[in-house]
Amino acid sequence: MTLSGIEERFTLTTTDDEVFINNFSEDVKTGLKSESKYLPFVYFYDHIGSQLFEKICELPEYYLTRTEADILEANADDIASQFPQETVLVELGSGSSTKTRILIEAFLERQNLAHYTPIDVSHQMLEESSYSLLEAYPDLEINAIAARYNEGIDHLNIQTDQQNLITWLGSSIGNFERSEVTTLLRHIRETMHSDDRFLVGIDLQKDKTIIENAYNDTQGITAEFNLNLLTHVNRELGGNFDLENFGHKAIYNEKIGRIEMYLISNIDQKAFISELDLEVSFTANETIHTENSFKYSLDDIDTLAKESGLCVKQQWFDTERLFSLNLFAPAVDLQ
Ligand code: AVI
Repeated sequence: MTLSGIEERFTLTTTDDEVFINNFSEDVKTGLKSESKYLPFVYFYDHIGSQLFEKICELPEYYLTRTEADILEANADDIASQFPQETVLVELGSGSSTKTRILIEAFLERQNLAHYTPIDVSHQMLEESSYSLLEAYPDLEINAIAARYNEGIDHLNIQTDQQNLITWLGSSIGNFERSEVTTLLRHIRETMHSDDRFLVGIDLQKDKTIIENAYNDTQGITAEFNLNLLTHVNRELGGNFDLENFGHKAIYNEKIGRIEMYLISNIDQKAFISELDLEVSFTANETIHTENSFKYSLDDIDTLAKESGLCVKQQWFDTERLFSLNLFAPAVDLQ
């Protein structure tokens, strides 16, 4: 059966995202008043930040996207072959859905119809990427959910009893603290049926130079991405941060196994954020911690699975073993 018009193949459910918007001012206030200043990484992704992130993904130093796409290209058919007709491909934090095309195509090779449920906070991104996919694939049906991960997962829970392949690509897992990841994975595990699977792209621990270069690219795109956080605050909250007076720094903390990204004040300075009625003082070289990107060892992945009620079913790597793609299944003893 071939489905026809794009509208008939598309639904978009929106959960209440008011809370998300309102949190911005509170989070900025808390982060910048704290003794060690920080800003949550989620606020990178305004419209400009999302475009800058797409550019990062194409950088030669940023091996994560390239290696994950290579792994998917090489193994998409193997993955698709493990699922029956009518399987729903769910994607957390779908963004532009670029890499998911590889999986969608593999499913369409084997199935008459493919079902895709992207979950993303950006309504606009969901609409844009879904329309582009629906145009490209006449046998694709999309039920998009505009929500954060937890709310999106809860929506899945009330959907049909079709088998699900939930995907979380791009090592987005790395931006969360280990305890947060375990909580989220346990939540996902609770919604999974015994034959559902969870496919997660995870960046691996490796030589410090390779990792640091990926976050300190020579074109300065990552620096722009980091500094855009201050532009976001200036625009939305009436801030007067002078971007000329801040720099970008990303260092790999080998002990913890994570990249730490900072904005660094070049001089002694003050900034005022009118919406928050907040003056923020900086001394020269003082930092704002903006992101962590955790890198995992294979043992870490195993432990994470165990702590979350999952088990590693299958694992794939690129030829240089820089990146991993992990297929998790519900652990038997929790079924
Ligand atoms: C989205 N996330 C997985 C990226 C990462 O590598 O942690 C975000 C990023 N930050 C700087 N470059 C890319």
